[in-house]
Amino acid sequence: MNNTILTCKNLVAGYRIRSGFVHAVDDVSFELSKGELLGIAGESGCGKSTLAFAIMRLLKDNAVIEKGSIIFKDRDLASLPEEEVKKIRWVDISMVFQSAMNALNPVLSIGDQLLDAINAHRDVSQKEAFDRAIEVLKLVDIPEDRFNSYPHQLSGGMKQRVMIAMALILQPDLIIMDEPTTALDVVVQRTIIEKIQELRKMFGFSVIFITHDLSLLVEISDLLAIMYAGRIVEYGPAEALFNSPLHPYTKGLMNSFPSLTGPITRMGGIEGKPPDLLKPPEGCRFQPRCPKAMKICEKEYPQLKELQPKHLAACFLYTGADKSD
Ligand SMILES: Nc1ncnc2c1ncn2[C@@H]1O[C@H](COP(=O)(O)OP(=O)(O)OP(=O)(O)O)[C@@H](O)[C@H]1O
Ligand code: SF4
Ligand SMILES: [Mg+2]
Repeated sequence: MNNTILTCKNLVAGYRIRSGFVHAVDDVSFELSKGELLGIAGESGCGKSTLAFAIMRLLKDNAVIEKGSIIFKDRDLASLPEEEVKKIRWVDISMVFQSAMNALNPVLSIGDQLLDAINAHRDVSQKEAFDRAIEVLKLVDIPEDRFNSYPHQLSGGMKQRVMIAMALILQPDLIIMDEPTTALDVVVQRTIIEKIQELRKMFGFSVIFITHDLSLLVEISDLLAIMYAGRIVEYGPAEALFNSPLHPYTKGLMNSFPSLTGPITRMGGIEGKPPDLLKPPEGCRFQPRCPKAMKICEKEYPQLKELQPKHLAACFLYTGADKSD
């Protein structure tokens, strides 16, 4: 049985600005199955949010999807007319934004915002809409008597849970979460992550979870994708990727956070800065920072290849390139 819910293939998207084109998402391909959680990690500015907005077809005015496809349940979101996308967005795919705490309308009660979300997409009675709004608030542990509260009357963690309730309300098959807990303290972050996992088990939706916090992703993801300068450089089962990272960038990232169980060591990190996406370097984009770079890496661009079962990396170290340089 084919369980694939989303297939992104050779997606190219970016921003047109006066001085050129910002290559924010460049040749990105991945697959996601029903119920799976795909974690996407990478340094700030590597294109994570642009990828999320491209899938939602909510890109900014100066952004374009240049090439590639985003197949969601047999339809290509990359080329679907906006009228058709409207029937899918929020209904089948929803999103919790990076700045979710500011995404709520300050002048409407959270209950009214939930009712609006239902009424915009479903032809239901007032009573049915109200019951559903209360039901999703309860799912995220917000008591019924908060229905008439305004966003400013709620804590940061509660606002974030309201955003998750909004994302759940039409029972989507896929929820994209872009840094949903970054602004919260560690304890609140933990309870929200546990809640997301519990709801996922309960309802079976798939999740794309974006964060720069790789240690969190390793814990919650089925699959991990590591992005660098607009490209996925490594992709595979979270455990395999964590236990035996292949790409030099992933190895550097793994060294950037201390082990929870091992001895306390100095955080390694990666020297240098990611490239300017207006003029990314030719060849491998990690080449200027890579401790293992070879001659070929300056000119040619490594493709993602399956190196171990379902574990892909884009690096010439593994693909028989001339290693003598
Ligand atoms: N509206 C815009 N116009 C031009 N360039 C943009 C625009 N929005 C984002 N960019 C650029 O696109 C690239 C990718 O940005 P994006 O926001 O997708 O990164 P990100 O991985 O989500 O970063 P962060 O971790 O900081 O959220 C960056 O170089 C960024 O400067
Ligand atoms: S392709 Fe070359 S530069 Fe790029 S990560 Fe591999 S070894 Fe480093
Ligand atoms: Mg972002």
